[in-house]
Amino acid sequence: MTNTGEIFSRERLIEMLSLHEPKAIESLFGLAKSIAYETFLGDVYMRGLIEVSNICAKNCNYCGIRADNKNIQRYLMPIEKVEEAAQFAFDNNLGSVVIQSGERNDKAFTDYLDDVIKMVMRISDGKLAITLSCGEQSEETYRRWFESGAKRYLLRIETTNIALYKTIHPNNNKHNFSHRLEALTALKDIGYITGTGVMIGLPGQTIADLADDLLFFRDLEVDMVGMGPYLVHAETPMAADEAKLLPIEKRFELSMKMISALRILMPDINIAASTALQAIKPEGRMLALHSGANVMMPNITPVEFTENYFLYDGKPGTTIEPTEKLEGIISDIRKAGFNPCFNVAGNPPHFYRTQQTV
Ligand code: 5AD
Ligand code: SF4
Repeated sequence: MTNTGEIFSRERLIEMLSLHEPKAIESLFGLAKSIAYETFLGDVYMRGLIEVSNICAKNCNYCGIRADNKNIQRYLMPIEKVEEAAQFAFDNNLGSVVIQSGERNDKAFTDYLDDVIKMVMRISDGKLAITLSCGEQSEETYRRWFESGAKRYLLRIETTNIALYKTIHPNNNKHNFSHRLEALTALKDIGYITGTGVMIGLPGQTIADLADDLLFFRDLEVDMVGMGPYLVHAETPMAADEAKLLPIEKRFELSMKMISALRILMPDINIAASTALQAIKPEGRMLALHSGANVMMPNITPVEFTENYFLYDGKPGTTIEPTEKLEGIISDIRKAGFNPCFNVAGNPPHFYRTQQTV
């Protein structure tokens, strides 16, 4: 019988996220790790992350690749380059790839992405699982990409506090909380294995907001969550709010607590060890495994492009070749006492459990 998670009150979650005794925090991490072990037996699902384009039509106030940042070189990876990266993933027995990009809704881009999906299916004979992380799209586009072979989609809600959502985005129709929610529902309805997530330590965000985020994940019955600390990017409007932020170590610790609390709440979903954690501490993503995460996404974007995919300052590993990065991460996962999985899609048990009960 799969552990379906304890029922927690909002107050209990707030308590967990507020722990400050180092021993109490350690036991929270330990409990989450043992719950993850019950579901995954120490297995870590691997995805090769390919950042296919940093062109974005949106202007989120926190993000380094927002449209108004004129100080970066924009790129769209030629499909042959994406093919090389996907082939690299396949040859290295990674069971899946994550295709990530800025958000564009124009036909040239939606067609391009459809070609990318079909190419990955073709070169791997349908064996490489595809997760998309390409923002809000029409239901029609989501459906088209699904039919072409992508079966998982990540769309972070960023924060579930609507007032806070408004402060971190421009106030216009392109950046609308309800639209984002509708997009998430559409993804679920189409049949995607759906993931979302939030940023942790945003200016003005409270512990109660984060507890509400966790309850949102549970109520929406999401299958995957990727969340990490908010990190400043100098060329963004929110860089001006730096003084309002929690110290970076505290944002890191709070992110770990969020992972642990979520693992206790939702034992059989996939939880990613996010790259943003590694930007704070080199061993950040391994610490996330020790706090309940079970997914690792080594970046396999060719180095010529990664240097232009800066969502926040200090993004790690932008000049290291994919081969070296992958070898390093595999060895780190093993050293941490976990088992990196190869040639498996690594879908979350939660998806199958909730499908059956619908
Ligand atoms: N700090 C942390 N995460 C960020 N993202 C974008 N900008 C930042 C930042 N400054 C995250 C958002 C987005 C994902 C692709 O990257 O959560 O959904
Ligand atoms: Fe674009 Fe996503 Fe960055 Fe917003 S967070 S500016 S949608 S890439």
